[in-house]
Amino acid sequence: MTTTPETATRTEPGRTPRGTERADAARDHLWMHFTRHSTYEDGGQVPIMVRGEGCRVWDAAGREYLDGLAGLFVVQAGHGRRELADVAARQAADLAFFPIWSYAHPAAIDLAERLATHAPGELNRVFFTTGGGEAVESAWKLAKQYFKLIGKPTKHKVISRSVAYHGTPQGALAVTGVPDLRAPYEPLVPGAFKVPNTNAYRAPDHVAGDQKAFGRWAADRVEEAILAEGADTVAAVFVEPVQNSGGCFPPPPGYFERLREICDAHDVLLVSDEVICAFGRIGSMFACEDFGYVPDIITCAKGMTSGYSPIGAMIASERLFEPFRSGATSFLHGYTFGGHPVSAAVAMANLDIFEREGLNDHVRRQSPVFRATLEKLLDLPIVGDVRGEGFFFGIELVKDKVTKETFDDAESERLLRGFLSKALFEAGLYCRADDRGDPVVQLAPPLVAGPAEFDEMERILREVLTEAWARL
Ligand SMILES: Cc1ncc(COP(=O)(O)O)c(C=O)c1O
Repeated sequence: MTTTPETATRTEPGRTPRGTERADAARDHLWMHFTRHSTYEDGGQVPIMVRGEGCRVWDAAGREYLDGLAGLFVVQAGHGRRELADVAARQAADLAFFPIWSYAHPAAIDLAERLATHAPGELNRVFFTTGGGEAVESAWKLAKQYFKLIGKPTKHKVISRSVAYHGTPQGALAVTGVPDLRAPYEPLVPGAFKVPNTNAYRAPDHVAGDQKAFGRWAADRVEEAILAEGADTVAAVFVEPVQNSGGCFPPPPGYFERLREICDAHDVLLVSDEVICAFGRIGSMFACEDFGYVPDIITCAKGMTSGYSPIGAMIASERLFEPFRSGATSFLHGYTFGGHPVSAAVAMANLDIFEREGLNDHVRRQSPVFRATLEKLLDLPIVGDVRGEGFFFGIELVKDKVTKETFDDAESERLLRGFLSKALFEAGLYCRADDRGDPVVQLAPPLVAGPAEFDEMERILREVLTEAWARL
């Protein structure tokens, strides 16, 4: 923009300080993430959200919505928590910023200790980032440097699962298994290989219907990939406890036990990417606990502050820190805003809320109720599968329930982009209709949600999915 900057002293509702309609300014200046902007160029209105309270959010026109996705798997403690805003203000007044590059501040120290206490095993070293993708990036870089330092310099490759999303930095994007997200940015960081995920609904015939056999089969694919690449070249395996992209794939029984065994046998680091699953989403601070495994690294972000300020972390085992303990060696990696004082202070206060209000217990108690409510939708012809854990569920949509036939690209485009997301939002439910794998609707409300919110989600989904089926 080349006009003279002016700062208006008064802002009219719905207008920017320069007097532009907000929706117009959004269309003309705000480059939205993962957004098809033609929708707005062609006359569509950018939804502008202005306020939140508990599980509810309101748009600029005053319309209320049920937040069925906790923002973006983030707002665990719910919207409108004044105490988190107050903590942020106090920390900004005391010390708004100082880096953790050879210096420290109390909030980062206290939070590092607290996260280490919650993390299982020897995962005691907390490296802060500003978000999840940076945590994944940090984990791969650490894995490479660690193996160089212990005399295994050829171990640099990573293995992850198909359709999994691990972030957008070029390393994390190489770990990501969604071809459409990668293609425009190739060549990416070399050395990232994919194995099958744990989509039990679409398990191969020879193990379908036998969860244990499926778990064993899926874990063994990781070993197969390690051996194909050569164990002396593989540094790490990245997996989510419950894979988000593709629509909530929980691990089959025995999967992580076998994966841990495989990683140990080949000296490959097991990275638990808990950017979504940590902080109560499944019912524990770290979801590896829910599934009984101890990784070498946990990556986390989103729910740590319930979104009241951004932060992420890579939590590494003592063993990985050992080569950095002495001599001239450092992890030559960092972010200006990593471990930001305001975010760290807010995270501490957010974790206080978790403890005081028993949010993890609430999730564990209410998860079966949530599941049972969503499973009522299985009577609809378009609902093929309801799956997930904790407060994290996916509903897979199909064209034929018997054959599990999915929608072709054009139908998917018409159904998900053209109708579902908008119709659900207009009916008062903010959630996600996703087709990075087969088409799914995903639900992950704030962790303070209960039966009334579950019923409301079911009611709106039933209405909108019935209409979607009629339109097909
Ligand atoms: C499993 C997983 N890893 C990494 C990321 C990237 O996190 P961020 O968007 O904070 O960079 C995400 C984001 O959704 C995620 O779900």
